[in-house]
This record gives sequence, structure tokens and C-alpha cells, in this order.
Amino acid sequence: MDPHADPAGLPEGAPAPFSLKPETAPTVASPIAPDAIRKVRRTWVPVRSLTSRHRARIRAHLLGLDEHDRYLRFGFAASDAQISHYADALDFERDELFGIFNRRLDLIAMAHLAYPPAQAVPGKPALAEFGVSVSSRARGQGLGARLFDHAILHARNRGIQTLFVQALSENTAMLRIARNAGAKVVREGPESEACLDLPPDNLVSQVGEMVEGQAAEWDYQFKAHAHRVHNVIEAIAGAKSEIATALRGTGDE
Ligand SMILES: CC(C)(COP(=O)(O)OP(=O)(O)OC[C@H]1O[C@@H](n2cnc3c(N)ncnc32)[C@H](O)[C@@H]1OP(=O)(O)O)[C@@H](O)C(=O)NCCC(=O)NCCS
Repeated sequence: MDPHADPAGLPEGAPAPFSLKPETAPTVASPIAPDAIRKVRRTWVPVRSLTSRHRARIRAHLLGLDEHDRYLRFGFAASDAQISHYADALDFERDELFGIFNRRLDLIAMAHLAYPPAQAVPGKPALAEFGVSVSSRARGQGLGARLFDHAILHARNRGIQTLFVQALSENTAMLRIARNAGAKVVREGPESEACLDLPPDNLVSQVGEMVEGQAAEWDYQFKAHAHRVHNVIEAIAGAKSEIATALRGTGDE
């Protein structure tokens, strides 16, 4: 059984006001597109742009993927050395990298939006390639799809016409993310390619990127501050317990 068949998770026959299945759609055309409904149902998660400062965290995140995930992400079971090389070689000037951090500031999901070196080939649509990984414990919460939406916004705003994903045909979750966003998926044996035509940028997409970027920055600074406060509290608690132990030793308590 496909556990993802009914996105609303409702029993059969139950009223499903937000169901995306065509057979349960209202006969009167809904003013809201299905993909818009899907986005509303997802909680907003801040996505931060990554820079070369985050290289070590990117490496740590990717090294945390098990062999099968590395195979799905890179098309082969990349070794630790190959992952380190990939992290070292990331070009933050040409490409864009995005990440989602948890409260402890661990990078739990990241995406790589790779722009080809020669972007403007006359007569050919400008393409960008999307690659993503989510830590195993953070899966199934919409983070992969959230990063895909974020990449769409950024790619549009940079004049990209087609977003491209190369995935193994067995990678149901990745292909589902792409299909949900409207991509055409072409399967060639064990490999599949998903292509999503992007609309041109507009004021909404430009402002959307700005607002998202600022909100993610505030979120990160807030988490960083909370993290520092937590470390100070831990240090004070540690010092207090050391003093208490020392005092017990001298009998002065
Ligand atoms: C692919 C990957 C990024 C998905 O991340 P995720 O955060 O778990 O995905 P989401 O929670 O956003 O789910 C996206 C969609 O896939 C579906 N899905 C998630 N896991 C699934 C699974 N194991 N099987 C089938 N569908 C699945 C979700 O239900 C959702 O569809 P819906 O919105 O229609 O319900 C993650 O599994 C991963 O990191 N895999 C290893 C690396 C990889 O495969 N990268 C992609 C190649 S570049």
C-alpha cells in the first residue's frame, strides 16, 4: 500500500476539503491551485543560504549519510574521502547552497543548486541542477520539498528557465518532490531525469526571496544566541558542581 496515496491522511469516504486527489476535488473550480494548497499545509521552515564558512558543517552533514543515501544522493556510494573532496570543491560564487538548521545548529538538510559555467548558450534554455539530502532523522517532514521550493524561487530570480534533477528511478521520495512541483519525469532504466520549466521572475518572487532570506537570518541568529546562552548556563552549572566537589573535599561546605 502506498502510504502517501492520500495526502490528507483521511479514511476513505470522509469529507476531504483539502484532498488533492482529482476524484474528490469539488466540481466548481477551486481558486487555489493544488500545489498552493500543499505549500499552505506545510509549516514554514527557514532556509539559510550557505557560504564557505559552512563548509565543515556541510561535510559533517554529508558524512552522516549512510551508504545507501550516499548512493541515492551522488549516484554511487561515495567514500568519506570523495565526500570531503566534494565539500572542499564547492564553488559558492557560482552555485547556491541552502541549508536547514536545527536548534543545536546542526545542518539537518541541505541543497545544492548548481549553475553550469557557461550559462547563456544561445538558443538553449538556461538550466540549473538540484541536489539535496536530508538527515535520516529529519525525513518525512517536508524539508526536502521545502528546499526544492526554495531552489525554484532562487533559480527563477536568476533567470533560469529549467530546473533539472537527476535521480535513481528507485528514489521515490525525490521523484515525488519533483512531480509534486509539476516536473516532467523521464525514466531511462535505473536512472530518471526530472525537468521543471520555471516561470520568469517577477516582483513577488524577488520580494519573496528577500523576505525569506531575512527571516532565515533572524532565525539563525536567534538559534545561535540561544545556543550561546545554553553553553554559558552549562558552563556555570559545571563550575558550580566543581566548586561544590572541591568544598566537600576540604570539609568547608
Ligand atoms: C529524497 C529526500 C531528500 C527526501 O527528503 P524528505 O525531507 O524526507 O522529503 P519530504 O518530507 O519533503 O517528502 C517529499 C514527498 O515525498 C514523499 N516521501 C517521503 N519519503 C518517502 C518514501 N520513503 N517513499 C515514498 N515517498 C516518500 C512524501 O510523502 C512527500 O510527498 P507528498 O508531499 O505528496 O506527501 C531524502 O529522502 C534524502 O535525503 N535521501 C537521500 C539523498 C537523496 O536521495 N537525494 C536526492 C537525489 S539528489
